[in-house]
Formats: sequence, structure tokens, C-alpha cells
Amino acid sequence: MSDPQFPRVLFVSSESRPFASTGGLADVSEALPNTLNPMGVQVERILPLYRRVWEGQSRHGYSLERTPHTLKIPLGGEVIEAEIFSCRHMGTLTYFVGCEEFFDRTELYALPHREYRDNFKRFLFFQKAVVALIDGLGQPYDVLHLNDWQTGMIPLLLDKGLNGTGRKRREKVLFTIHNLAYQGVYAATHLYETNLPGNVLNRYPEIEFYGQINLMKAGLVGADRVNTVSPTYAKEVTTEAFGCGLDGVIRALPEPIVGIVNGVDVDAWNPETDKTLPANYSRSKLADKEICKKAVVEEFGLKYQKDLPLFVLVGRLVDQKGVDVIAKAIEEMLALPLQFLLLGSGQEKYHKMVLEWNQAWPEKFAGRIGYDSDLSHRMEAGGDFFLMPSAFEPCGLNQLYSLRYGTVPVVNKTGGLVDTVTDVRKDPKGGTGFLMNAYTPEALLACVRAAMSLYHEPKELRRVRVNGMKQDVTWTRTAEEYLRLYEGMVTG
Ligand code: ADP
Ligand code: GLC
Repeated sequence: MSDPQFPRVLFVSSESRPFASTGGLADVSEALPNTLNPMGVQVERILPLYRRVWEGQSRHGYSLERTPHTLKIPLGGEVIEAEIFSCRHMGTLTYFVGCEEFFDRTELYALPHREYRDNFKRFLFFQKAVVALIDGLGQPYDVLHLNDWQTGMIPLLLDKGLNGTGRKRREKVLFTIHNLAYQGVYAATHLYETNLPGNVLNRYPEIEFYGQINLMKAGLVGADRVNTVSPTYAKEVTTEAFGCGLDGVIRALPEPIVGIVNGVDVDAWNPETDKTLPANYSRSKLADKEICKKAVVEEFGLKYQKDLPLFVLVGRLVDQKGVDVIAKAIEEMLALPLQFLLLGSGQEKYHKMVLEWNQAWPEKFAGRIGYDSDLSHRMEAGGDFFLMPSAFEPCGLNQLYSLRYGTVPVVNKTGGLVDTVTDVRKDPKGGTGFLMNAYTPEALLACVRAAMSLYHEPKELRRVRVNGMKQDVTWTRTAEEYLRLYEGMVTG
């Protein structure tokens, strides 16, 4: 039951598990509303109705229903209809903005070689439909929780309305940065699609950035509060090195940006009950983790060798994730007595690299290009060490999953990785992983070597694994912090 003392929230995102996912934003969009609702906070969610949302219904156990809302959305000279569907899944009501022209496509944002050319129009349409639905539902929300650039225009739309003629904004807006590297930057010529009066970009300083439309900036400037997904990243984004050009905008915000570390869906990620694994295990039954290791090594077509530590990597193969540093270290790394499994997809140059590594080291390395959620669980369970040498990492979820699965994370010292992993070499009793002291192949190799020595000290290794498995990574703590932010905005 929802409690009327709490604010009523609409969570707006461009992706959410189990409906459609490309990365960590989808995990957060699923878990945060699903955690808040049982706490009595009424949170509803809204997403675009991508093709894969339709296709996933029976596989993921939800069914979409058409609502009576068909909204007419002006986009420049055109008027395009949005059909609103909904479903209730895991206790959360989710609305979906349907429009075949924009969302009935194979991917969410981009084909492997290029972004969809009409992304500004697609996500402007989504954002306008969000505002139109809020007004159409007739039951106001106290807080809109917006996430990343795909929702950044909403504050302006809440003020100006769909036709640019004005609207009274009643809602408080929280804007969460999940990744500042993707800002939604588009040519000023797209401005006419917004129907904002004037059609001159410099009339709208909140969305203008060096003569272009910048949707991330629009979200930052238009929101009542801004947060990001870890305290360290919250500090980093105020610096030139990590601010991706927007550090000045962030430093100038009236309220400082706060960092709230993401949680883990501990039902989906639980080695004791995970149905995708060949064997379940726990802190007190760690030996069975070895069954998972043998199975996943063989699933990738390598020969299982108990004495070789197994490094795994799952993630988007993009510059952020440090694949270039791995590339520079790979020869030396694979000369060591270890095995390495990789799963990911992203930039084509990295796909090529992975296929070359498959050819060059057929006994020690096996990489797969693709997105496979079940396989990612088996890798988390089977690995001894999880590699995450990211150049920057707003929060990172895979290192948290690794901690839950007793798979020791080897990570770069940046962003949320710093806030969630403690270096064994600094804290031998309480350590949970290894942190690189620089974004270089040498620093990565130093960590890999340290990890290998740990592997051959079974008692120490066990302690490090157990330390990680004991760490509190539940969503409850995170959800409470978000609730405090919502409440602060409504009362403050
Ligand atoms: P990011 O959001 O930057 O991609 P996170 O670590 O926050 O990084 O979240 C990544 C999420 O996406 C995790 O749930 C991870 O398991 C999942 N993921 C990424 N790539 C793949 C893949 N190729 N196959 C399966 N899951 C993947
Ligand atoms: C982004 C970040 C990642 C974070 C995720 C969820 O994709 O790259 O670090 O965990 O969002 O907040």
C-alpha cells in the first residue's frame, strides 16, 4: 500500500530491465522503483515501447495492456500519435510510449556502426509524450525522477508545454547522471521540432551549449536537484578531466551534486538461488563455485585447469571500459599462467580485437561478441577475478555483482569503483579486490600479478572472497537515500 505521506513519483528512463536493456541504467530503472513501492512510496515508471518490449512479454512474464490514452504530439510541423500501454510487474506500474515509426526497431539507440539518425526526434517525442500523459492522467506527481540525456528536455517542456505556449510546472524534478560521456548533442537546426517559440537557440541558454542543443545540460540546469551514482564520481564530474565539457555547468549548480551508490538486485543476483548456474554456492559452501568455473570454461571451449586462475570480463566494449588498456597489456597478460573469458558488444574496433585474440591465444583466451544475460551470470559465478579497468566509471554494477559472487574485482581507481572496492594490499584483513593506481597497462599488469599471487594462497583468497560476499550491496540503503532526496525537494 502506498503511504500518502510520501511524495508520488514518476520515474522516467529510456531503458529498464526486464523490458529493454543495454547497460546499468536498465538495472537501476528496474530496481529502484521496485524497492521503493514496497516501502510505501508510490513510484510509477515510463519508458519507450521498443520492439523488444513487445517481444519479451512471455519470456519475462509481463503483459502489455492498451490504456485509453492516445496522445497527439506536435513535432515541428507534424503531429504524431503516441499510444500509451501499461503493465504492472514486480509491484510497479510502468507506462510505455508506443509509436511504431520511432520505437519499432531492432536496437534502442544505435546500430553497431552508427547512432539512429533521428534520435533527437525520437527522444523529444518520448519526452513530450511523458508531459502529455502527466497532464492527461489528471493525478499530479510530486516528483519527476529523470535519468540521463534522453530525459533532459523534460524540465523545459514542463515549463513551456508541448506547443511552447506555456504550462504551469507543479512537479519537482530530480535529474540523475548515470554517464556524463553521453550528452545528447544535436545541431541547432533541430530546434524547430520542439515547437519552442523563437527558433533561435540562444533564447534558450539552458539547452544551448557552444551553438548546439545539449540535452544533458538541459537536464542539469532545468532540474531542482541533480545527483549521480557514486560520491567519487560526484566529485570527479566537477573537474575538467571528467566533466566532459560540462564541469563548469555542474560547478555552477545552485545545490551541490550528490552521489548515491547503486545497489544490487539481490534476488536476481544470488549465487545461492541463481537458476542459470550449474551449481549454487554460498559463503559456507564456496567449494561449489569451482563447478561453475569448470562449466563456464568448457562452455567457452577452453580446457579446464584447476591451477589456472580464471579472469572474466562482461561489459559494453567501448572506450569507457578500458579495453584499450587491456589491448596494450594482453600479450604480457596471456603469457602468464591464467585463462581469460570475455563477453561484450559495442564498438566495432573492439569486436575485431576480441576476434583476433581468439585466434592468437586459443587455449587461454575466449571472447564472445554479444549480449547474453544468463551467460553473464555464469561468468560472474565461474570467474576467480573480474576485470574492470574502466577509464571512468560513474558507479559500475558488475564489480558489485562480482562481490556478491565471490569473484574478486580487479578495477581501476575511479568513480564508483573506488567507493565499492577496497584494495587487499592496503587492507589485508578487510580488502575485497585490487585497484589500479593509474590507467595504464603497467598498473593493470601489476594488479593481475597481485591477483595471481592471491590465487595461490587459498586461505587468503577465501577471506577476500568472503569479505566481498558480506558487503551490504542491497537496494534498500540506496532507495532510502533517494527517498530523502525526493522528500527534501517537496518540503524544501
Ligand atoms: P554500464 O552501465 O556502463 O554498461 P554497469 O556495470 O553499470 O556498466 O552495468 C552493466 C550492466 O549491463 C550489467 O548488468 C551487465 O551485466 C550488463 N551487460 C553489459 N554488457 C553485457 C553483455 N554483453 N551481456 C550481458 N550483460 C551485459
Ligand atoms: C552508467 C554508468 C555505470 C552505472 C550505470 C547505472 O551506464 O556507466 O557506471 O553503473 O550507468 O547507474
